[in-house]
Amino acid sequence: MQPEHLTDLIEKVTSPSDGLAANPRVSEVVGRIVKDLFHTIEDLDVTPEEFWSAMDYLRDVGTNNEFGLLAPGLGFEHLLDLRMDEAEHAAGLDGATPRTIEGPLFVPGAPKSKGDARLDDGSDEGDVVFMSGRILSTDGTPIDGAVVDVWHANTRGLYSIFDSDQTPYNLRRKIETGSDGRYAFRSILPSGYACPPNGPTQQLLDQLGRHGNRPAHIHIMVEAPDHRTLTTQINLDGDEYLNDDFAFATREELVAVTVLHDDPADIEARGLTAPFYTIDFDFNLNTSSEAVDFDRVDRARVEAQMVAVV
Ligand SMILES: [Fe+2]
Repeated sequence: MQPEHLTDLIEKVTSPSDGLAANPRVSEVVGRIVKDLFHTIEDLDVTPEEFWSAMDYLRDVGTNNEFGLLAPGLGFEHLLDLRMDEAEHAAGLDGATPRTIEGPLFVPGAPKSKGDARLDDGSDEGDVVFMSGRILSTDGTPIDGAVVDVWHANTRGLYSIFDSDQTPYNLRRKIETGSDGRYAFRSILPSGYACPPNGPTQQLLDQLGRHGNRPAHIHIMVEAPDHRTLTTQINLDGDEYLNDDFAFATREELVAVTVLHDDPADIEARGLTAPFYTIDFDFNLNTSSEAVDFDRVDRARVEAQMVAVV
């Protein structure tokens, strides 16, 4: 193809029609994406059949509501994290617990309690875990009034709200810290999970020769007065996919040690009848700053009632 034909067509795609105005930002970004895709088609000699197959694929991703899986699977969500890390570092904001991807399964509005909570409704026979720690500023000062939003999967790797077999907000709670910055909760150890095996995300991963598994993890979002919001996850040590997460979310500093307690006296003291686990994990937040123009990522999130009617 003559290079000028390519350049000419790219120019036309983002040239406003007579009497109409473009959104400059959208025009710039779309123009760049179209330009890069035009060159991809030209350089790789993409056939019309391949192109229309790709269009059908994107339709399927939308129909199956899997863009929230495809984005982390292709590394985009981790890329956004790395870019936010760099922006904070450039602004002198260092020392916080590393962020990692939110994923598509956070649901706002979990029940809130002060200091501690029980996340599970008792219906899942999973191993009991007690997780606790402190919410601290980067200088080690405990943060009063921090709200820790916790959500995780059950032993089948499924999340409440999205899994109609679970009670609403099972394994989802908000816990507010007091002046000591402490949070604590009882729950069950989650399992890892995988992309739907017949969905379009796994379909593409198959073509790339990749699996679609995530290691067991617990999602955490912490909001606190005068501090930057932290969205992160902790990974459970020992999972076979710990360092092979299809979503690229594992970070070394976020691997938590799960301690097994099988002494009968300890078990009885907790009012349990089987061994249990503990996790001790502190989270550090950067203080608020006007040097960066983002905080909690503003994105569409599922509302509980939206899923409940499906
Ligand atoms: Fe998750």
